[in-house]
Amino acid sequence: MHLTKEEERIYGGEEGWTKKKAMEILVAIGDINSASKLIPIKSAHVSGVSYKTIGEAFEFINSLEGTVKVKSTLNPIGMDIERWDKIGISGEFATKQTEVLAAYKKLGITAECTCVPYLLGRMPKMGEHLAWAESSAVLYANSVLGARTNMEGAPSALAAALIGKTPFYGLHQTENREPGIRVCVKCDIVDADYSALGFLIGNLVGNKIPVIELTSSSLPSKDELKHLSAAIGATGSVGMYHIRGLTPEADAIGVPAEKIEIEKGDVKKFYEENEEADVIAIGCPHCSSLELQHIYELLRAEGKGRKVKKDFFIFTARAIKQRMQEVVKKIENYSVKVICDTCFVVSPAFERYRCVLTNSGKMLRYVPLLCGGAKAKLCKTEECVRKAF
Ligand code: F3S
Repeated sequence: MHLTKEEERIYGGEEGWTKKKAMEILVAIGDINSASKLIPIKSAHVSGVSYKTIGEAFEFINSLEGTVKVKSTLNPIGMDIERWDKIGISGEFATKQTEVLAAYKKLGITAECTCVPYLLGRMPKMGEHLAWAESSAVLYANSVLGARTNMEGAPSALAAALIGKTPFYGLHQTENREPGIRVCVKCDIVDADYSALGFLIGNLVGNKIPVIELTSSSLPSKDELKHLSAAIGATGSVGMYHIRGLTPEADAIGVPAEKIEIEKGDVKKFYEENEEADVIAIGCPHCSSLELQHIYELLRAEGKGRKVKKDFFIFTARAIKQRMQEVVKKIENYSVKVICDTCFVVSPAFERYRCVLTNSGKMLRYVPLLCGGAKAKLCKTEECVRKAF
């Protein structure tokens, strides 16, 4: 990979050990992927920040010096910063998690701790280059916003943040954003169906970018696209998709020869398991303001003054919770807890449950792997609320 004079100096260690290490990571990744050069990025999003997953490896982050060169955000950590003791997090975990957070903050990374950085502050624009980890956000940025990022890992996203650049390969290049497979959906899709659809697509398409053809009456909302993105990212290895007639690059792409069809029965199967859930969790990815409003309306319609009978958690970004304070207060009046900075999967606080009801395809994939052997069951949002009473 070609380096400029300035990049050579950093690589040689003339700007200190931290930037040298960051440059070494970027060069190694660039060389493996035959990148020709580094390109500037507008923002970075760093994952792997929960103490539950990073453990003592955070000492490495602590040893880094200097500050990030572009706006950089963090994925959810292992606890709600303000209410960790109320959700059963131990003092020992909280101390460690606070140290992890401080290590990232010291580098100038915004401690917003959410997987929906595109809902806060500045939304990436079409064609902008980013270095984001967190698969759900990568798929959303590439597919729905038309921004350009590869599926970064925690070290490469952090290295890109420290240098302000990323290797030019993969989804940064127009020719690699062409679809390789058509996915024809033969039934109308709504709400958690997008989680089921994404789960299926991720499993079926391998590393081929899909172009999805929905029925004329399926018009996904931004939140449904968020769920579709998260589920494809959870089961698949592609970093983007197109939806014919909807996503910003879909008009300029060709028609792949390979085709798969998704029937009503394929989606319906996701709802068939009958196990009784002992907890309900919504907000994977973190809930938007509109979703909070919608859940409140469902609670009001179903609850009629009653409190929920099962543990019920909603996960969102702190800034969204603050923006929606009044609605959050009303939601919590039903004994539902609105939690920030963390989520069901990355926090150890939720490992005590046996079966979780959710509208998220990503939780369907990760709860059985990362939450103490619990099961996850898919439900439409309305059904999640109904089953809580
Ligand atoms: Fe976000 Fe946690 Fe889901 S990081 S996408 S809420 S697993």
